Amino acid sequence: MKIAVLYGGVSNEREVSISSSKGIMKALEKNGHDVIGIDFHPERLQEVIELNVDLVFIGLHGKHGEDGCVQGLLDMLGIPYVGSGVMASSVAMNKFKAKQLFEQVGIPVAKGEQYRMDQETNIDTVVNHIHTNFEFPFVIKPNREGSTVGLTIVRHESETKEAVKKAAENDLYILVEQFIKGKELTVPVLGEIHKEKSLPIIEIIPKNELYDYEAKYSVGGSEHIIPARIDEDLTEKIQAYAVLAHQVLGCETYSRADFLLTEEGIPYILEVNTLPGMTPTSLFPDAAKSIGISYEEMIEQIIQLSL
Ligand SMILES: Nc1ncnc2c1ncn2[C@@H]1O[C@H](COP(=O)(O)OP(=O)(O)O)[C@@H](O)[C@H]1O
Ligand SMILES: [Mg+2]
Repeated sequence: MKIAVLYGGVSNEREVSISSSKGIMKALEKNGHDVIGIDFHPERLQEVIELNVDLVFIGLHGKHGEDGCVQGLLDMLGIPYVGSGVMASSVAMNKFKAKQLFEQVGIPVAKGEQYRMDQETNIDTVVNHIHTNFEFPFVIKPNREGSTVGLTIVRHESETKEAVKKAAENDLYILVEQFIKGKELTVPVLGEIHKEKSLPIIEIIPKNELYDYEAKYSVGGSEHIIPARIDEDLTEKIQAYAVLAHQVLGCETYSRADFLLTEEGIPYILEVNTLPGMTPTSLFPDAAKSIGISYEEMIEQIIQLSL
């Protein structure tokens, strides 16, 4: 097949995307496909059209790649692509909206509130509202961002304003969430619509306090334990939640759900990633590897499922 891999882009996750796409392109070539990599920018859309490819593999992350925008462009052009469509991508990227859907189907979510931070917004009013509605510690993050960019754990009143400003630098909307103390888990989901299955749960032990940018992408920044050290019943429950989250958002082919599991055994879902990282040391490929699916096989499965 002739496959274009779109990588790079304009989001904060540009570097991650470049790394993911290198892995994807190498695997596709190994699998015998004709692969063209494109450092994507809307101005390069004409090139994508002229290439007349069989399929586009979206190797982008974050804004404009993972949020449905590129998917919309490709839909309009009738070019098939891998993974979720416009609606699921867009809703998954919007953590607040996604949480509302998760809650509706009974998946535990941390108490959260969204604030619009436009030029007319009075920051002190927002800060006061947060202080009356949340107990310390809480988390402030951009509503539509990834890679833990712009996120602060707020432990004291004096920190709230800075945290609000920092999150607002990355999105028009900020999300405030009750801090959940728990194990970091992530659950890959793969499969045809209505028949999705979860791969083994990954337990993440970040070297830093948070699973932040450094812990996510630097070598040795975190340790992955697969399968996670959780009893069978709870494992099944969390896997079922991950599949349900994928389905309620309307995701297609693959996704990866992030959870925090408390000591009491409550798995709070944080988000669903519709274009999970695919660097050779990323979580999704690691889970596949743990059940004997090589990186190349996994990429091929994703391709076949997308057709
Ligand atoms: N409510 C929360 N309580 C505790 N930690 C959180 C909370 N929200 C986020 N975190 C931490 O920040 C990381 C990134 O948060 P997440 O919501 O998954 O956003 P993204 O991965 O898109 O940046 C999580 O993996 C976790 O370590
Ligand atoms: Mg996450």
